[in-house]
Amino acid sequence: MDFDPEQLNAFVGKPALHLPTPALVLSKPTIERNTTRLLDDVKKANISFRCHVKTLKCGEVTRLMLGGDGVHKKVVASTLREIRGLLPLAREGIVEEALYGLPCRPSALPELDRLSRDVGIQIMIDHEAHVDMCEEYNSRTGRSEPWSVFIKVDMGSKRAGAPLDSPRLKELVRRAEGSDAVRICGFYCHAGHSYDCKTTDAAASVLHEEVNAAHEAADMMSSQDPVCISFGATPTAHVVSSLSASLPARVNLELHAGNFPANDLQQLSTGSIQPSDLAVRVLAEIVSVYPERNEAIINAGTIALAKETSQFPGYANLVDAPHWNAGRLSQEHGILVCSEEQKEDASKAFKIGQRVFLNVQHACITSANYGWYAVVDEQDVVREIWYPWRGW
Ligand SMILES: Cc1ncc(COP(=O)(O)O)c(C=O)c1O
Repeated sequence: MDFDPEQLNAFVGKPALHLPTPALVLSKPTIERNTTRLLDDVKKANISFRCHVKTLKCGEVTRLMLGGDGVHKKVVASTLREIRGLLPLAREGIVEEALYGLPCRPSALPELDRLSRDVGIQIMIDHEAHVDMCEEYNSRTGRSEPWSVFIKVDMGSKRAGAPLDSPRLKELVRRAEGSDAVRICGFYCHAGHSYDCKTTDAAASVLHEEVNAAHEAADMMSSQDPVCISFGATPTAHVVSSLSASLPARVNLELHAGNFPANDLQQLSTGSIQPSDLAVRVLAEIVSVYPERNEAIINAGTIALAKETSQFPGYANLVDAPHWNAGRLSQEHGILVCSEEQKEDASKAFKIGQRVFLNVQHACITSANYGWYAVVDEQDVVREIWYPWRGW
């Protein structure tokens, strides 16, 4: 069993450095600044917003991402567990629409149908068999309500989605328009490849490609009903102010993003944020030092950090000495190595028991491995413990 809430509450009011290790430490002021910045940009762009809840998977952050007092009411989730976790916010009226953001599957429909009694459910489709699936479910269960669907368009990232230039996207639109079991509410592009951008100009050009791709797909509809075009990823969301699309009145533009409250080294690599925007750190301890190979070992490995990379070397780096990075990881421990340019003596830099904060490469994946988050203020004092929605 992990620590119980009583043990964890004993750390409230104490410096984060005193936490048991490894610990995931969130800076609430940084999360607030990051969300305010993005929501201000959304407001200036005069578009709607859907937050992805997969990064920190908890009610506290979702509330902030939606503007605190329910300015925005739409979310996208990657697991059914996240949608179950959102229900208290739905009961409060803070969340009205939850899009299950993976291409849907037959085994998920019964639960999504049940959840739709408490929150507006939308599903993602990218194959004609998804329409068959909804028809089969509705005729078998007597559900009369059509499923609200977003059609996922692959505009280059080769993850989910029917490719924009494939004849089957047109066929899917035609098939969905002709079915009583689904109702197209929008087209969804997610430019995962925007993470390869190194400048804000490059991200801005992916943003425009995303919007144009979703718009081109929406034009395949024969009906002129209102339709939503959903686009974004945190690197492109950071440049949403550059948006200059002029679209027909029936089109409602919606930005979606999820990582932005947290940020991480992958976001820093895109050039769209500053080191002071990193809200997530892992606290670990030096458990041994190896003078003969100028390395040290910490009690945080693949599970505590995640084996993700970016242009920053290693799988994580030290907040106060970024020339030291976790260069090799095993399950529960990581090896700190020093960059070639800034050779520092490990024996002088570290001693056993010393606590170190690490920046992580990909906050979404790292955070998913923790059962609780220590939430700190500007002075790095623990003020709250948050419990994420774990599992599927
Ligand atoms: C389908 C989908 N939409 C939105 C997002 C949010 O992207 P980001 O975390 O870059 O903001 C993701 C993230 O992986 C995603 O998979």
